Amino acid sequence: MDWDGAYRQEAGFDGPPPWNIGEPQPELAALAAAGKFRSDVLDAGCGYAELSLALAADGYTVHGVDLTPTAIAAATKAAADRGLSNATYEQADITTFGGHDGRFNTIVDSTLFHSLPIEGRDDYLRTVHRAAADGAGYFVLVFAKGAFPAEWEQKPNEVDEDELRTAVSKHWQVDEIRPAFIHAFIPPAPADSDVPMPEHDRDEKGRMKLPAYLLSAHKAG
Ligand SMILES: C[S@@+](CC[C@H](N)C(=O)[O-])C[C@H]1O[C@@H](n2cnc3c(N)ncnc32)[C@H](O)[C@@H]1O
Repeated sequence: MDWDGAYRQEAGFDGPPPWNIGEPQPELAALAAAGKFRSDVLDAGCGYAELSLALAADGYTVHGVDLTPTAIAAATKAAADRGLSNATYEQADITTFGGHDGRFNTIVDSTLFHSLPIEGRDDYLRTVHRAAADGAGYFVLVFAKGAFPAEWEQKPNEVDEDELRTAVSKHWQVDEIRPAFIHAFIPPAPADSDVPMPEHDRDEKGRMKLPAYLLSAHKAG
């Protein structure tokens, strides 16, 4: 996946990437509203960082990390435009991310997990665990199997519940995995598609609600 190309609108999407919904994923916004997050917050694979920008506006100290220079430039500019000096952004590969050992009380993964190659998961889980303070919370919103057609060769690395639990529990204490939704701008399938997207339900803004899991975990200590 050419992530920077997606943000530059050169990667085959018809317009902005479908995950740029202009606001935090609703499942994660609900966790924030329920008081589940504590500063400092790491927004892992932040993209345009709507989640951490919203948290920063609410007074949290946040730091976002993403592979792509285009997304980091956009997030940094948005923080400056909104006067959020408590929001910082860094271009880095999350599988080798370092320099913040023990800092974060919350780590949020808003649709990063399924964006990584499967062989990169363990390195990612290790780097964010190292960056977490003792007792930190870790929250992952990830596509469930069945979100995309089985026949598609190129699609996110959807998970089933056992696979997610097994991967994460090598590093983290898993507290809960529950069904959830990822909201994305996915147009209706053209009538002549060979293997169309399943017609999942849509929200009140017309965005598709794709099946997902919401994982909550913490770092021992
Ligand atoms: C589906 S997007 C989600 C972006 C954002 N969290 C959101 O909810 O809108 C996945 C993001 O992960 C980033 N990403 C993919 N591989 C990465 C890696 N190895 N290290 C850091 N970021 C990565 C991509 O650049 C992209 O911004």
